[in-house]
Amino acid sequence: MLNMAVNLDSVSKRFGEIRAVNALSLEIAEGTVYGLLGPNGSGKSTTMKLIMGLLKPDSGRITVCGMDPQKEPLNVKRVIGYVPETPRLYEFLTGMEYLDFIAAIHGIPTEQYMPKVNRFLKAFELSGHENKMIGGYSNGMKQKTAIIGALLGDPELLVLDEPLGGLDSKSARIMKDLLHTIAEEGVTTIFSTHVLEIAEAICDKICILYKGNLLTEGTAEELKRLSDTPDSTLEEAFLKLTNSSDVREIVEALVY
Ligand SMILES: Nc1ncnc2c1ncn2[C@@H]1O[C@H](COP(=O)(O)OP(=O)(O)O)[C@@H](O)[C@H]1O
Ligand SMILES: [Mg+2]
Repeated sequence: MLNMAVNLDSVSKRFGEIRAVNALSLEIAEGTVYGLLGPNGSGKSTTMKLIMGLLKPDSGRITVCGMDPQKEPLNVKRVIGYVPETPRLYEFLTGMEYLDFIAAIHGIPTEQYMPKVNRFLKAFELSGHENKMIGGYSNGMKQKTAIIGALLGDPELLVLDEPLGGLDSKSARIMKDLLHTIAEEGVTTIFSTHVLEIAEAICDKICILYKGNLLTEGTAEELKRLSDTPDSTLEEAFLKLTNSSDVREIVEALVY
């Protein structure tokens, strides 16, 4: 039996009339890079916030690393590294000061986190920029800094909401390798994107969300086979999801 990092059992969340997440059931095994794929408004961010315990479900059950996020809000946040869609960093801190601050929140001693910080700075090609003010960083650099921060607390679960927004193709490739390296150490990642090819390139398993409903779930291989079959509804869904022109370079870097 595989251990489940995250379990959603018929979870629903509405905002007024909008059914953001509709009777969603998911099982995410430990050590998986799991993709939430869907166009804007399909409920990806809401699902992530429910898993984080930042939103309370209207109905259904959520289990994260054996805990209910509503009953153990702090313990759940302790085991998750979360990077929201537009991470808010402190513009007047340097990257290093920000990471020192995150380490302090987690109570991690310097000698423990510095080797890790240096490893990730190097991996993301941020070395040499860590003593510059975050306000001067590009969006990609901010996002990479936020991801390093999320990794510092040794999370069991990494929740990355559309993390390739500000990243270039090279960083995307680095991130793919990094996620699979930590997956081998047992870390689970939930990764959202609205681009089919990115999900296929990065994720072991993918669920397709559309208007809060789960359309289908499977491995990248299974979805590829499905997308070849001329099933009209699925075909339409894929077309809506794939807006490749602006991400062509990133996809190429991920695939080859
Ligand atoms: N705080 C909120 N208040 C009202 N509506 C919201 C709120 N958050 C999300 N929604 C709505 O819920 C739906 C799903 O949103 P979201 O989870 O952000 O989708 P995605 O991340 O896939 O783009 C959308 O229709 C969105 O407008
Ligand atoms: Mg979103």
